[in-house]
Amino acid sequence: MKRFTEALAHQAVLASVVALALLLWAGALALWGIATASLTFESWESTTGSGGAVHNQVSYQPGWSVDTWTMKQSHTGKLGLESGFDRVAIQVDHSVEPAQARYFQFDSTSGKELEYRTSCALCHANGPRVLRPAPQTSVEGAGVLSRWVMLLMNLRIKLYGTVQNVVTPLGGRSRSVPLNWGGAAYDEELQHERCVACHGSSGLASRSPLQKRHFMPISFMLKNELMPLGFHGALSESEKQEILSWLRSPFLPKQGKFN
Ligand code: HEC
Ligand code: HEC
Repeated sequence: MKRFTEALAHQAVLASVVALALLLWAGALALWGIATASLTFESWESTTGSGGAVHNQVSYQPGWSVDTWTMKQSHTGKLGLESGFDRVAIQVDHSVEPAQARYFQFDSTSGKELEYRTSCALCHANGPRVLRPAPQTSVEGAGVLSRWVMLLMNLRIKLYGTVQNVVTPLGGRSRSVPLNWGGAAYDEELQHERCVACHGSSGLASRSPLQKRHFMPISFMLKNELMPLGFHGALSESEKQEILSWLRSPFLPKQGKFN
């Protein structure tokens, strides 16, 4: 009997060692997968001025203290072209609490740092944004695993928690296109109770507060019922209208894109 229990215990230890090895192997494979893939997809949120498709290619380079997210973006058709795309990057320093994000725009061919084409913080309220391909479109770059790799990248992005945007100079001078567009009037923070539980609090799912300058991503989330996260479609029509009228007043047009 004793020998039997010993053998059982021995097997259990062996099984745990094997399970742990498998887990480590899967973790390493997952990290390797997301660190080497360049995912290409049509963006759901970003469109051209006339509503046309915008194609993105995103890659992730993890580091001990600073991760680098790089994106090529084409407004003129699928990527794979040698020119005619924007090249941007976000560096996330996760060795500090809260993490810090720095934004860069590069010349697509020479790689030289350039002035921003748009104010990044208009849409990047909290460092890197979750990747959302347009519905019914494909994700390419890691074969059949592309969707899984995207899931892991998105998990990494969410796990940064609150991320602070840091203003950086260009060539030793302040930029002519600011990181934060719109001036002080747009610093006003969204106080809606359905949103502040995560945006502007501390804790695991916490994010930086949303401001009036984030009218584009906020209206995108409301229109597609993507927020509050995990409570799909939970906002009543009147709550949605409350947030939209706060967004519009008194600066934004009442008609058009932000309805
Ligand atoms: C109009 C909104 C908007 C603006 C302005 C914008 N971005 Fe983004 N960006 C996005 C969205 C949305 C994504 C996520 C990809 C997707 O789903 O399309 C993204 C993704 C990225 C990524 C890939 C990593 C990530 O965040 O997922 C980088 C790098 C990036 N943007 C850099 C920049 C830089 C640098 C600027 C300023 C020069 C900028 N972006 C301005 C909307 C914007
Ligand atoms: C349960 C927590 C939670 C609640 C509540 C919530 N959000 Fe979010 N929100 C998130 C998380 C996590 C992200 C990043 C992941 C994503 O984009 O799915 C996010 C992303 C966003 C973004 C993109 C900017 C960013 O920080 O990445 C906007 C805009 C946004 N939410 C709007 C809203 C609005 C408006 C409400 C209220 C109606 C709301 N959210 C309620 C958790 C929440």
